[in-house]
Amino acid sequence: MQITKASEAVGAIVEGVDLTSLTDDEFVEIREAFFDSGALFFRNQQLTPEDHIAFAERWNDIDINRFFTPVEGYPQIAKVLKEPDQEVNIGGGWHTDHSYDEIPAMGSILYALEIPPSGGDTLFAGMHAAYEALDDEMKVRLDGLQARHGNAHIFGKDSAYQKKFGGRFGNTESAVQEAIHPVVLSHPETGAKGLYVNPGFTLEIVDMDPAESTALLDELYAHIQQPQFHFRLQWQEGMLAMWDNRSTWHYALNDYQGHRRYLNRITIAGVPLDQASS
Ligand code: SIN
Repeated sequence: MQITKASEAVGAIVEGVDLTSLTDDEFVEIREAFFDSGALFFRNQQLTPEDHIAFAERWNDIDINRFFTPVEGYPQIAKVLKEPDQEVNIGGGWHTDHSYDEIPAMGSILYALEIPPSGGDTLFAGMHAAYEALDDEMKVRLDGLQARHGNAHIFGKDSAYQKKFGGRFGNTESAVQEAIHPVVLSHPETGAKGLYVNPGFTLEIVDMDPAESTALLDELYAHIQQPQFHFRLQWQEGMLAMWDNRSTWHYALNDYQGHRRYLNRITIAGVPLDQASS
């Protein structure tokens, strides 16, 4: 098995491994690389839904997504699907999954079944690298801050997104989750500090004037959106990508109108998050 960095800031490519027959030693190596790099990419995997579930369960329990359409017969697997005649995709903006939950999902495991002839790449951003590149003044300013996250504006039945999305999300009445998390997170596995706010689900910095909160979040988002913190994944059918929601953002590009793109996603349960101590 070879593991090589995908970019300086985020991700690693794992080669020479079959995820249906991983040894315990290989799994230990993969786990370490995952928490170190924030995302892993495996090409040429031949996974049945059962294989996908079995791999996910090696990490932790499965966190069943409330809103995505499940694969028939496999409630643990959510479809990330855009048909040729649909215009809005899932995840078409920078975000991290489930930050609106009290105990956010650890990560997601996405397996590619049908990829358009061109386009449909996914961008990843590394939150540890982005945090480390902040100047000292900003690091001091962020110390001890907390942010409120929510999902009603995305998955709620009256949200603009759900309307644009053609009502394809289910359970919209249960999009009521809100949670408060540290702005700078000490990673639960490695202790490394990273930014934990995202444009998809972060609503505001707690106990801050709204205009100041918006300005601070916009400044952090502009910082993270610099390309030196990114990796662009070009999908192939049979590729599996997994990312750590506590240390990355991702963004599914929507530039393949008229083509089908279909991947299956399993979300893995996480652990309570702690404030990073300076
Ligand atoms: C997602 O946000 O989970 C979807 C990512 C993708 O389709 O590449």
